[in-house]
Amino acid sequence: MTQVLCVAGARPNFMKIAPVMAALAETGIAAQLLHTGQHYDAAMSDGFFADLGIPHPDHHLEVGSGSHAVQTAEVMKRFEPVLDSVKPQAVLVVGDVNSTIACALVAAKRGVRVIHVEAGLRSYDRAMPEEINRVLTDQISDLLFITEKSALANLQREGIDPARVEFVGNVMIDTLYRNLERAVPSCQTLGTALPAYAVLTLHRPSNVDDPATLAALLDVIGEINAVLPVVLPLHPRTRGNIEKFGLSAKINALRILPPLGYLDMLGLMRDAKLVLTDSGGIQEETTALGVPCLTLRDNTERPITLTDGTNTLVGADPAAIRAAFDQVMTNGGRAGCIPEYWDGRAAMRIAHTLKGWLPQAAGVRSA
Ligand code: UD1
Repeated sequence: MTQVLCVAGARPNFMKIAPVMAALAETGIAAQLLHTGQHYDAAMSDGFFADLGIPHPDHHLEVGSGSHAVQTAEVMKRFEPVLDSVKPQAVLVVGDVNSTIACALVAAKRGVRVIHVEAGLRSYDRAMPEEINRVLTDQISDLLFITEKSALANLQREGIDPARVEFVGNVMIDTLYRNLERAVPSCQTLGTALPAYAVLTLHRPSNVDDPATLAALLDVIGEINAVLPVVLPLHPRTRGNIEKFGLSAKINALRILPPLGYLDMLGLMRDAKLVLTDSGGIQEETTALGVPCLTLRDNTERPITLTDGTNTLVGADPAAIRAAFDQVMTNGGRAGCIPEYWDGRAAMRIAHTLKGWLPQAAGVRSA
């Protein structure tokens, strides 16, 4: 009998589900893995399974791209019959992507328990699709695992019983520690040894979907590149928009790479002088690596990276980005320390809790 049906769908899910699957296997919890296919390119998906030793998915929904409504609806439609045939005791979802809310919603309505890993993070910015996914997933989850203590206060504010919440640390950082020694040296990924460089990642709709915002960002990145070479692994959404808006000339002088595999990206970040990003996960990974991070957003759902880590919020304003960059060049950037429980054992804490929780949660909830 399958006890836990684990769900992964998009790139940022894969590094979170890998240690969870390993810990469930190690503690003897019967689990299956379902891939929704939200991300489907080899570079955005398959490579991560190989790099991280994630077992081949037991189920693949192959939903592909679409508007948020289409993508979420397709996952829901295709997930329901799988859930009905597998009949797990619980569905485990990670993070905040469309696949997360889609599968959680189907499970909750079928009376199947929902476990949310990386619960309670809040940017308080409802313009972010991920924020909607986080709030809704947490509301319908039975067991919520959090990465930092601020998440508990967020959940309590939304009326969630703290008895259902457990602080376990960060499973994505489990993956980082587990793979650090295998990380590909940056000179190999770059094809040349750069004495110092910055890594940029950019894909948030708020930064890349508006031509003027994207152009202004690329201009200031161009200025930075004149001082410190900028390496840009280019997300498909961003690549498409740069071409559509006629901005290709603005990235000519940067070192452009395709979306990278996990071990390449890890090595590239580890060896960087600075990371500029609008990703959620990279704010945490740079904190764990001790590399200064300038986050090109006005808010973060991961405040511990600001208080304890190496992260600084700079938004999309060119003057603020320039000033923060100058500061890193003069003083080396924020040193930071490793947040509590980001120790490589988060997934094992989850598995141990589930060992006790699953027998009590047995039986389908009254729908
Ligand atoms: C999604 C997640 C976001 C995460 C990001 C990481 C949601 C709401 N957003 O955003 O939280 O940080 O993934 O990448 O779930 N595409 C490809 N190949 C792929 C996947 C996508 O070419 O394998 C293209 C799509 O056709 C689309 C664009 O990339 O044009 C965006 O993909 P999509 O999954 O819709 O959203 P992301 O912006 O990647």
